[in-house]
Amino acid sequence: MQVSATIQEVRTEVDKLAVCAVSASELMAGMVELLHTRMLKYNWIGFYMMEAGAQPPMLVLGPFQGAMTPHTRIPLHEGICGAAASTGKTVVVDDVTKDPRYLACSLETKSEIVAPIFARGKVVGELDIDSHFPAAFTREDQEFVEHCAAVIGKKLEKSPV
Ligand code: SME
Repeated sequence: MQVSATIQEVRTEVDKLAVCAVSASELMAGMVELLHTRMLKYNWIGFYMMEAGAQPPMLVLGPFQGAMTPHTRIPLHEGICGAAASTGKTVVVDDVTKDPRYLACSLETKSEIVAPIFARGKVVGELDIDSHFPAAFTREDQEFVEHCAAVIGKKLEKSPV
C-alpha cells in the first residue's frame, strides 16, 4: 500500500506525542488537536470512551476537536459509534446518508470512520472521525486511524487516566 507523505509525517508526530504525554488524557487531547490541524479532510475528531460500570454499556464523549455534537452519550446499540464498539471492528461509512445507523452530528458531514480502542484485550473506547468530503477514508486512512487508536490503547494500559 502506497502511504502518503502527510500520513507518514503525522504518524511520526503521533508517535512522538505518545512518548512525551504523561497521561492517556493528555495524549488524547494532543492527538485530536494534531489530527484536526494536519489532516485537512478530518473535520471532526473525537474520542468516545466506555463509561466505567455503566449498565447498559454506554459510550461517553471525551476530548474532541470540531463543532459540539448533540451525541455526548451513545448506547452500544445506536449509531456508527455503537456498531464499532459492540463489534470491536472499525466501521468506515463512505456516504452517511445511506447508512441507517448514522446519528447526525453536523449537516456538513459526508463520511465517517470509527476505530475501536483496545486495552488488555477489551474495547475501552473508540476514535471517531467525520469528514465534510464523501468517501474521505481510504484503506491508508483506516490503517493510520487504527494505529492512532492502538497508541491510545497502549497508553491506557500504562496510565489509565
Ligand atoms: N455519527 C456518530 C455519532 C457521533 S458524531 O458524529 C460526533 C454515529 O453515528 O454514531
